[in-house]
Amino acid sequence: MTANKKLLVLPGDGIGPEVMREVRRVVDWMSRRRSVSFQVEEGLVGGAALDAEGTPCSDETVERAKAADAVLFGSVGGPKWDGLPFDRRPELGILRLRQELGLFANLRPATVLDPLVSASSLKPEVVRGLDLMIVRESTGGIYFGEPRGIETGADGKRRGIDTEVYTEDEIVRVARVAFELARGRSGKLTSIDKANVMQSGRLWRAVVGEVGKAEFPDVQLSNMYADNCAMQLASNPRQFDVILAGNLFGDLLSDLAAALTGSLGMLPSATLGAPDAAGRRHALYEPIHGSAPDIAGKGIANPCAQILSFAMLLRWSFGMEEDARLIEQAVEKVLAGGLRTADIMAAGTARVGTSVMGEAILRELDKLAA
Ligand code: IPM
Ligand code: MG
Repeated sequence: MTANKKLLVLPGDGIGPEVMREVRRVVDWMSRRRSVSFQVEEGLVGGAALDAEGTPCSDETVERAKAADAVLFGSVGGPKWDGLPFDRRPELGILRLRQELGLFANLRPATVLDPLVSASSLKPEVVRGLDLMIVRESTGGIYFGEPRGIETGADGKRRGIDTEVYTEDEIVRVARVAFELARGRSGKLTSIDKANVMQSGRLWRAVVGEVGKAEFPDVQLSNMYADNCAMQLASNPRQFDVILAGNLFGDLLSDLAAALTGSLGMLPSATLGAPDAAGRRHALYEPIHGSAPDIAGKGIANPCAQILSFAMLLRWSFGMEEDARLIEQAVEKVLAGGLRTADIMAAGTARVGTSVMGEAILRELDKLAA
């Protein structure tokens, strides 16, 4: 068995390290039971990296991420680092990795698993079976646009500036990812913008339409303003299948979509770069939940989102669909069996901590692979 699959694991801060520990057990399980082994390296990111290396993401970590086949990321940030200067925030860890690795397509599924339908704040009949995918552009827009900064004018008053800017090429490449996904699902894509207010939004709408017409005439494209999309998500989320949005709108709407499921601790994500000639692409996988500093270190965090992020990694970086499905099924079985971490508790279920949840998933994996 050769370990030709190189993973860089960056647990980060807060609950990151404790949920990542459960993924490591799944990785070990795979080498024992599925004869797939990974060469796993660990590194520091976020506050942990600030403390140890003086920067939220060192050049060395960026190089190691580039050399890996995939990066499995935990979460960054926490009150300990809240007062730091803007250019030393832990969040820069993830932003730098996205930018330096060219990870422009952030795939954020929001699914409601049947056993968790009552965890949503919405009525079961509104969210049952919800299965949508948000494709968020993640290396452009107002997150990185220039000029940006806070400047002091001649009158001694300050001005804060950010720039929302999208080039045609940036829109085309992320739109293609969204159209492809929609084609493989229900054939429906909703593209989000504020074309009624923003010039970058007008271009967004025009370019997405052109890509659709020229390359994906089989996909049914509709356009929606971002504010309306927020309202529609909260009232009738199942009308959507794939949603395409720029960086900022995608950030907001993906949190909203995640909240609809009632189980933030369940949701994984993938962020992909462009494939090279050999079809290899940089990719990073992370749970949607943040570092959850309020529960960090207590052994009660839900490891499912991190484990499901690993499943996405298997699917997207290594084409290991069967193994990815196996892990997803194991998680569903454990939930159906009535085990819950605190975040997804419901009447009639048993509350367990992080490592018991991890163990239960391993046991289901054993059964499924038997
Ligand atoms: C996310 C997070 C990040 C973002 C933060 C941590 C910089 O909110 O991944 O959605 O805004 O992109
Ligand atoms: Mg966010």
